[in-house]
Parts: sequence; C-alpha cells; structure tokens
Amino acid sequence: MIAQDIEHVLISEEQLEEKVRELGATLTEEYREKFPLAVVVLKGALPFMSDLIKRIDTYIELDFMDVSSYGNATVSSGEVKIIKDLNTSIEGRDVLIIEDIIDSGKTLNYLVELFKYRKANSIKIVTLLDKPTGRKVDLKADYVGFDVLDAFVVGYGLDYAEKYRNLPYIGVLKKEIYSF
Ligand code: PRP
Ligand code: MN
Ligand code: MG
Repeated sequence: MIAQDIEHVLISEEQLEEKVRELGATLTEEYREKFPLAVVVLKGALPFMSDLIKRIDTYIELDFMDVSSYGNATVSSGEVKIIKDLNTSIEGRDVLIIEDIIDSGKTLNYLVELFKYRKANSIKIVTLLDKPTGRKVDLKADYVGFDVLDAFVVGYGLDYAEKYRNLPYIGVLKKEIYSF
C-alpha cells in the first residue's frame, strides 16, 4: 500500500476531476478555431494530460518531449538536456505545453525559448500545479490548476525518487520518507 507513505491528501480525486473539467472547457474555447499541438512533458505530465485531453472538445494533436535538468549538484546551471525530442515540426503551430508542475521554471523556460526559436505561431502553458515560491526564472503559466506551497507533493504523475506517480490524488509525503 503506497498510501501509507502519505501524510495527508492535498488535492482529492474529485477536486482534480473538477479542475480538469474546468481547464478542458477553457481550452476548448481557446483553441476552437485552431488545431493546436499539445506538447506533453514526460513523465510527470502524463496522468494530467490523459484526463485533460478528454475534456478538450476540439481537434488537437499530441506530441511528447522528455527533458532533464543537468549540471552538478552544487551549481544549478539551468541547462536542460533533451532526452526525447518532438516528432512534429512546430513551425507555425499553436503550441500548448502540458505540465504537471512548475517549480523553478527552468524546464519550461527552456522549452518556451526553444519553441520560439523553432518559430511556433503561439505558445501557451497549462500546468496542473504551480509553486510560485520556487521560481528562479521569470515564467508564468497561462492556465494553472492549483497553487501549492508544500514541498513534497506527490501523486497523479508527480514523483519522489520515481515513486508515487500512480497515486490517484495529490498528497503530501510523510517526513520520514524523505528525511534520513
Ligand atoms: C519535474 C516536473 C516538471 C519540472 C518542474 O520534472 O514534472 O517537469 O520538474 O521543475 P522546474 O520548474 O524547476 O524546472 P522532472 O524533471 O522531475 O521529471 P519527471 O517529470 O520525469 O518527474
Ligand atoms: Mn516533469
Ligand atoms: Mg520528477
């Protein structure tokens, strides 16, 4: 039982479902006359993406990108390495980036700059969670599900050491799991 590692539920399945519906309705209006390319940032955004796209009632194309921050442990370089690039050309496309959480903002800052360089027509960001207090670069999402303050939120795609992505809700991890 992985739920035994959870201190408390921060965002319940019902709250997630309601918010995803809301965001889906908003995005349906936003992209009604377009054929946007939804770029999913692996791996955290997968569960959110899977639920969200079912609530977007207009044509969308999906593609996936896997990136990782790198640099050494003491200096955060802000450099991002592409592990898997898109299969689709984004020149002239209306790009919707789907993320699970924005913390420092470095991952998305890199992607936004990259997509501008590749001549996207427009770039918007939808993120389930936003942690504004973690920001290291100036970056704002266009659509945000929930603001979070808690340090160790996991579940619904979010991991701690690659675990807990498969929890159906967002929870706060017990202290003894990450402090040793
Ligand atoms: C996490 C999260 C975001 C990013 C946010 O991904 O899913 O993509 O970090 O952090 P930032 O705003 O400070 O860049 P991670 O790199 O852990 O990969 P994962 O999605 O595979 O867990
Ligand atoms: Mn991620
Ligand atoms: Mg992660």
